[in-house]
Order: sequence, then structure tokens, then C-alpha cells
Amino acid sequence: MKIKLTDGVYWVGIVDWALKHFHGFELSTHRGSTYNAYVIRDRKTALVDTVWAPFADEFVENVREVIDPTKIDYVIANHAEPDHSGGLPAIMQHCPNATVVVSKKGAESIPGHYHQQWNFKTVGTGDTISLGQHTLTFFAAPMLHWPDSMFTYLAPDAILLPNDAFGQHYATAFRFNDQVNQQELFDEALKYYANILTPYSKQVIAKIDELLAMGLPVGMIAPSHGVIWRDQPLQIVHKYRPWAEQKPLPRAVILYDTMWEATRKMAEAVGEGLCNEGVDFKLFHMAVADRNDVITEIFQSKAILIGSPTLNNGLLPTISPILEDCRGLRFQNKIGAAFGSYGWNGGSVKMIEKHMQDCGVPLVAEGVAAKWQPDANALSRCRELGRTVAHAIQHS
Ligand code: FEO
Repeated sequence: MKIKLTDGVYWVGIVDWALKHFHGFELSTHRGSTYNAYVIRDRKTALVDTVWAPFADEFVENVREVIDPTKIDYVIANHAEPDHSGGLPAIMQHCPNATVVVSKKGAESIPGHYHQQWNFKTVGTGDTISLGQHTLTFFAAPMLHWPDSMFTYLAPDAILLPNDAFGQHYATAFRFNDQVNQQELFDEALKYYANILTPYSKQVIAKIDELLAMGLPVGMIAPSHGVIWRDQPLQIVHKYRPWAEQKPLPRAVILYDTMWEATRKMAEAVGEGLCNEGVDFKLFHMAVADRNDVITEIFQSKAILIGSPTLNNGLLPTISPILEDCRGLRFQNKIGAAFGSYGWNGGSVKMIEKHMQDCGVPLVAEGVAAKWQPDANALSRCRELGRTVAHAIQHS
């Protein structure tokens, strides 16, 4: 399948409706994904990015619908992660003398993945390649999403090909943003940002400001996942800018796990305290919640309240992954508090508090620990914890 963007420019990617997990099992993709690649036909022909290796043969056939793959002159590898570079060996079998264009860091990562003696050309910001009527200009975009990432800009069509940036894990029947459900589209764009790009928010702001300051015309933004932004393409850029500033909404996320319902009762009492002060919250039982959906809620919220019973002198195993996410994603502008039940031996609340402090999340209330099942006094302390956090949200 091929889809025309402009004269001589075609999408030749793959729609992966079945994908439910990405990065192994690190990221849930409830709505599938796409691996977008683009062919530009001119006096010279360029292919921008490829697809994940299991789809390499279908991808080569998509390319063949536009041009005989032996005629490809340039293969632009904007990013080495295998969802975009995995089709390189298959396509390069057809055009072994094509030039593989990589960023300075890509000159390390692409050969490191494929160990092939291809003809490499390394480019940096502002370097260009003329295809005839079309010109490709390259912009280094480190950490959007890897150190090797770069954007390719196509003139005169004014198409920005930013690889991972501005993407969504979103399989759809249609390829353009004006053709799909807008709520789903922005939900997926937000989940993608929160779960993948949050730790690189400083680089996102710098890159957006750099590109906007250049005043390049942008007729389309064609990322390597999800739909192509052709209707008001800069709208996703103007979403990314405040997302990258990480100014949270005045609400809270309560997440917990429980063995015999004691910590659940505490979590709900914390929620009552928030609610009584007019602060909205979402409550997640981590044994059954989707971790990445929880991360998206945390990303948007001011406060994180985490509860776990003490088990084997530690936390319930379902709590540890989200704590690790909080460390790795380096959320900014959060506040936190902890709670949890215990039986013979306690310690979970202190462990969660230490982890939050290590993540740079300031504690705004003393944690609540309850022995065995929480009694009226313990539940009252949980409601008070919720009220204290609510006040901290309201005065932040
Ligand atoms: Fe879609 Fe960083 O790969």
C-alpha cells in the first residue's frame, strides 16, 4: 500500500493493528501503531526511514508500488531504533550501492545494529541533499528520542519528517490527522509524550523553539508513528510546548496495591480527603491497572499518592515498576505522599517516601501507616492526608 502526500512523495509504511506492547512489554499500545516510511521520487530517489523487521518484506513491496527499489539513491536513517531501521537490511539488498544517510550519532548506532559495509554519509544540522526539484535538509534532534535522532525537512513541499517526535501509537484506517477520531488521536499523542519523551522535555523545548525561530514553512508533519499532521500541522507542536513545560493540572493520582483490602480502604479514605477539599483525583489498583495509562495520568497531575502494604520487609511487587518509572521519567513539578498497611513488620511507607525524595518529588504530608486493618483513627488520618495534599495542590 502506498499513500500520496504530495507530487512525488509517498507514505510506504506499515499499519500494525495487532501491536499491544512496544519496547518489549515496556509500553502498552492499546490502539496498535504504525511504522511510517516515505519515498521521495525525483531525479534521485530517497527513502526516509524503514519499518520494524517483521514487516520488512511487506514494506519492500510497498516501496515497489512507488519505484523499483534498485533505483533508490539515498536511504535516510533518522533514528536507529529497530522499529524504524529494522527494514534496512531488506531494502539494502535491493540497492546495495545506495547512500545511507545518518546523523553523527547514527554513524555509531546504525552500524552497531547491522554490522554492514554500506556507503554511509554523515550529516549534521543544516546539511542538505538535492534530489532534483526536492531538497532534503537535516536537523540533529538528540534525545527525540535517542542521541542519534534527527529530523529531515523536505522542500519545497514543506514536509517535516521528525521520526519519533509528534508521533502516536495509533493504528487507523486513514493516514492523515483530519481523517481520524480527534479524541483518540490526542489521547494517544499525550500518552506517547508522557511515556516516551517526558525525560527529554528540555530538549523538546529547545528543538521546538529552534525550528519555530527559523520560520520554515510547515505544510505537513509526517512522523514515523501514527497519522500525518496535514490539517493545521503546527497544532501538535503547540501541544508539545506546554507538555514539555510539565505544568500539571490541580489534581491527584492515588495508586496502590493491597493484599487484604487494608491499603485499599486507606487509598479510598485519602481520596475522600482530596474530594472533600474539591480536588479531583484518579485511583488505580496497580495489580489490575495499565502502568502506562497511570503514567499518563501522573504526567498531567500535580500530586502522586502511593500506597503499599509491607511484604517481606519491602513493597508489593506491582508497586516497584511505577516507582522505577517515576525515577526514569524524571517528572517535574510534582508533590507526593505515601501510605500503607502492615502486619508483623512495617516499613513500606518510609520506603515509598525515600523513593519519592530520590526522584525529586517533595513530600507535603507525613505518610500514614496502619497496623493490620485500618481503624477509624487510621482512616481519619488518611482523610487528613488527602486534605493536606489538596491544600498543597491548591496553594502551589
Ligand atoms: Fe519509534 Fe525511538 O523509536
